[in-house]
Amino acid sequence: MQRFDTTTPLVVDNALKTYKQGASTIHALDGVSLSIASGEFVAVMGASGSGKSTLLHAMAGLIDIDDGRVVIAGQDLSELSDGALTRFRRDNLGIVFQSYNLIPSLSAEDNIRLPVPAGKKSELDTTVNDLLERLGMSARRHHKPGALSGGEQQRIAIARALICNPAILLADEPTGSLDSVSGTQICELLRALADEQGRSIVMVTHEPHVAMWADRICVLKDGSNLAELKTDGRRDPQTVARNYQEALGAEAVA
Ligand SMILES: Nc1ncnc2c1ncn2[C@@H]1O[C@H](COP(=O)(O)OP(=O)(O)O)[C@@H](O)[C@H]1O
Ligand SMILES: [Mg+2]
Repeated sequence: MQRFDTTTPLVVDNALKTYKQGASTIHALDGVSLSIASGEFVAVMGASGSGKSTLLHAMAGLIDIDDGRVVIAGQDLSELSDGALTRFRRDNLGIVFQSYNLIPSLSAEDNIRLPVPAGKKSELDTTVNDLLERLGMSARRHHKPGALSGGEQQRIAIARALICNPAILLADEPTGSLDSVSGTQICELLRALADEQGRSIVMVTHEPHVAMWADRICVLKDGSNLAELKTDGRRDPQTVARNYQEALGAEAVA
């Protein structure tokens, strides 16, 4: 299996992002920094509104930051034009959301093919077959999203994110709409993508039993780094929950 070996696939350095809301200014990102190594799986935790999704969207180049840098495979995203950014994103990043975002009228297989540029679609037949096989979805390839369970839809969304073979996978609450069995299957899949293929994974979650699958946990508060928790590969939700609560301090208990 191919392994990616870029030295530092993803660096966020002192990112700032503010939103104006009426007379007030919201500091969605307030100097957050985060680096991800090759094959590393990092979870981002934090209370609602702490900036997790904003950070993920900034990493994906879906929003511009006001200051600081996002550097992917050595490329500062702010230096790319819109068209170049779209191509760069397609080649380097896979993005997965809580809500799957599949096209209802397309089959599972055609949803997976969506990001592939026109003219290259047939070249990727083998990749599509491999992905369907890898995700245990071969028998469901002709089903429309409405005929699939939530866990199956998320697996198709992950296949779509992987179709252009990105080194980095970004996932915003990927298990947030799933029952715990399907959620665990998605976590196992993400873990395997890091371990077996050397992909770098950033996953936003607020659930300790999801975050425990990561190598380390970056805790955000008010748009900046509050703490970094090691999981030591133990996959122990109680320890993660306790360390997370301790990091947040008394506020989290309330
Ligand atoms: N497009 C936007 N316009 C205005 N405020 C926003 C926007 N996106 C996010 N925010 C605000 O930025 C803060 C961080 O939001 P977000 O990153 O979505 O948090 P999280 O994902 O951790 O719940 C929140 O206060 C949120 O209301
Ligand atoms: Mg969010």
